[in-house]
Amino acid sequence: MKTIHKIAVIAGDGIGPEVIAEGVRALEQAASADGSFAFEFTYFPWGCEYYLKNGRMMAEDGISQLKAFDAIYLGAVGAPGVPDHISLWDLLLIIRKQFDQYVNLRPVRLLKGAPCPLKDVAREDIDMLFVRENSEGEYAGSGSWLYPGTPREVVIQNGVFSRFGCERIIRYAYELARAQKKTLTSISKGNALNYSMVFWDQIFEEVGKEYPDVETHSYLVDAASMFMVKDPKRFQIVVTSNLFGDILTDLGAAISGGMGLAAGANLNPERNFPSMFEPIHGSAPDIAGQGKANPLAAVWSASQMLDFFGHGVWARRFIDIIEEILVEKQYLTPDLGGSASTSQVGDEVVRKLKAYSK
Ligand code: NAD
Ligand code: IPM
Ligand code: MN
Repeated sequence: MKTIHKIAVIAGDGIGPEVIAEGVRALEQAASADGSFAFEFTYFPWGCEYYLKNGRMMAEDGISQLKAFDAIYLGAVGAPGVPDHISLWDLLLIIRKQFDQYVNLRPVRLLKGAPCPLKDVAREDIDMLFVRENSEGEYAGSGSWLYPGTPREVVIQNGVFSRFGCERIIRYAYELARAQKKTLTSISKGNALNYSMVFWDQIFEEVGKEYPDVETHSYLVDAASMFMVKDPKRFQIVVTSNLFGDILTDLGAAISGGMGLAAGANLNPERNFPSMFEPIHGSAPDIAGQGKANPLAAVWSASQMLDFFGHGVWARRFIDIIEEILVEKQYLTPDLGGSASTSQVGDEVVRKLKAYSK
């Protein structure tokens, strides 16, 4: 009997639908080549166009509709004409929060053949896995806007760091480091953020007592940014707060082939709710609709989805295929110096997957 994975597809805005289409084709090809599992994709037309028609980013009962799925595959959200804080909060961020996807796993790995702007850095030196806190912290959404438009105007944006929230993400990272026999680095900013980040550092130490076998490092975020560029091999598993993880993984993308190659998984590890897989880039309005978007980040996030469903062999094949494409340089989009279109790269992924058919 075939296992059916029910996937909610929210392709979203800009280049989202362009790259997700290629990821879906790759997943379908893997499933048909394997034969023991299949995907059932259901498309939701939510995003900025939907907002302009309906005054909301998703259906009113959107969250309860999504609950029925095994996973969500998301393209990108955001378009000129809709304020970003509305489009992102009412779709992407609300899903992360409502489904308690508190782990955001973002690999920063320089694949064979990927371009790297750093000098004197070997490919093997860039191989990190970011474990970004994804449910609270600087993204808690707590605050107020007082006396708007008056000279007394005051804006307050609170960071919320709960013991529960910090412990669970830090423990998740320790478990990963232990399982993979890697070092664990915490990135924070306790010298200036005298409540939240002092607390974070304290919990990193406390939880660490349960993992004496794991080698740890702790950096301030400013120094960590510098070392990511000057000496990236220092980092293996990295755990950090929501905002720092957001910023540092764009930096990570920049040193490992660019935004077109950066993937992320928003996980609810307990599997009480669907997890969500997405390229970490945005809707890229500057290149949307031109067939220029690199779909490989979407393919890599599809690989993360395969891993999550226990299809590790296929997950690795996806990465191998991305590497082959990067090394061969025949089918690359303009961001990687090529002239192939989004769908030509997708065709090549599918062609290479067919080689694995039984
Ligand atoms: P962006 O990631 O969309 O684009 C940054 C730069 O990277 C652009 O020059 C773009 O052309 C390039 N780029 C991104 N993805 C690419 C790909 N797959 N192939 C080739 N080039 C690619 O970031 P931005 O411009 O700051 O944001 C645009 C919109 O996307 C905003 O509305 C923002 O809020 C939103 N956003 C959404 C997400 C998300 O949905 N996960 C993430 C980041 C930004
Ligand atoms: C990301 C994005 C989002 C984030 C935005 C669009 C809210 O930048 O997934 O990296 O900051 O988490
Ligand atoms: Mn980001």
